[in-house]
Amino acid sequence: MKMCGLSLRIVALAALTLQTTSAVILTRYSKIISAGPPYYSTTLVLMAELAKFVLSLFLVFVVDARAAQPDGARFDFGETFRTWKDNIVAENFVNPRDTLHLAIPAALYTLQNNLIYVALNNLEATTFQVGYQMKIITTAVLSVLMLNRRLSAKKWVALLLLTVGIIGTQVDSSSKVQLDKSNHQQSFPVGIVSVLTCGCCSAFAGVYFEKILKGSNPSVWMRNTQLAFFSGVIALVGVLGDEGARANFFQGYSWIVWAIVAVQAVGGLIIAVVVKYADNILKGFATALSILLCGAASAVLFGFQPSTTFAVGSMVVMGATMLYSAPDTSPGNSPNTLLPLGRKGSSHV
Ligand code: C5P
Repeated sequence: MKMCGLSLRIVALAALTLQTTSAVILTRYSKIISAGPPYYSTTLVLMAELAKFVLSLFLVFVVDARAAQPDGARFDFGETFRTWKDNIVAENFVNPRDTLHLAIPAALYTLQNNLIYVALNNLEATTFQVGYQMKIITTAVLSVLMLNRRLSAKKWVALLLLTVGIIGTQVDSSSKVQLDKSNHQQSFPVGIVSVLTCGCCSAFAGVYFEKILKGSNPSVWMRNTQLAFFSGVIALVGVLGDEGARANFFQGYSWIVWAIVAVQAVGGLIIAVVVKYADNILKGFATALSILLCGAASAVLFGFQPSTTFAVGSMVVMGATMLYSAPDTSPGNSPNTLLPLGRKGSSHV
């Protein structure tokens, strides 16, 4: 599939790199500039899931229901609406067990989404990214185990190099980053445990979502709607269990918090396209490259001074990316060698 002459996979991966960078920088920045009381991360997660749900449902209407109309036919709102409604009923209520599969990644993503704010609150943006990217190897191992994917020796070397490159940026002892001007206490152990747990949740949820997306019939937007629905319900439980958030839901909601909600919501759509048209391992490379962008943005915005180790680590990350993306003739790398799950057939966007 092409978009402006470029493959949809490349466009989606580039968009994901930009989205990840802006999400991290915006979230960090929001903590620094906030003068008044802080926002509740539980409410932010809920708002982001709500936005993803509405956007995905809209895309089921605009893309899926429209695509079901005869070619060249004039847009008929009533007919498209009926197709949309029938799609929703057929793919959610006729076989609810299939829909329920999405509750698993939803629960893991929700845990991850809440821990992300704990991690970001306790770590500097680049360290956060580095810890988070440890999930690359976990994701590769799970892809082999759960999706029957085979990775050539070259690709494993690239993945290891990527990890080494990331560690190179992690041992950045001179990263005396002028990030925290708000005097709030930061705890490195709390931050690092949170970020590593985030990575494990993300790896399993991502590979499981990929298995569902590529191994069953409903479109990527329908699957995303289902995922956002379950994530939203769990996030709502989180808000209801948080007395402060319940009482002051929109406390601290400045323009930047709304911007984070928007970036997260669009990110959910981009991730779904990436997982559908590329895979979770390539997604890992795209987000790893965002470390480099985060470093550059942090230098401009927060006075981050990249050390030699950061620079060398960044170069290794780029080398690993090039090595991984070099043509590979070994068989078995098809992203579609999946175990069956749910109703089989070809998905459509
Ligand atoms: O990069 P990583 O896999 O850790 O990102 C996971 C994030 O993407 C989670 O916050 C999850 O809610 C979100 N996501 C999404 N829509 C998807 C898949 C993941 O919003 N289809």
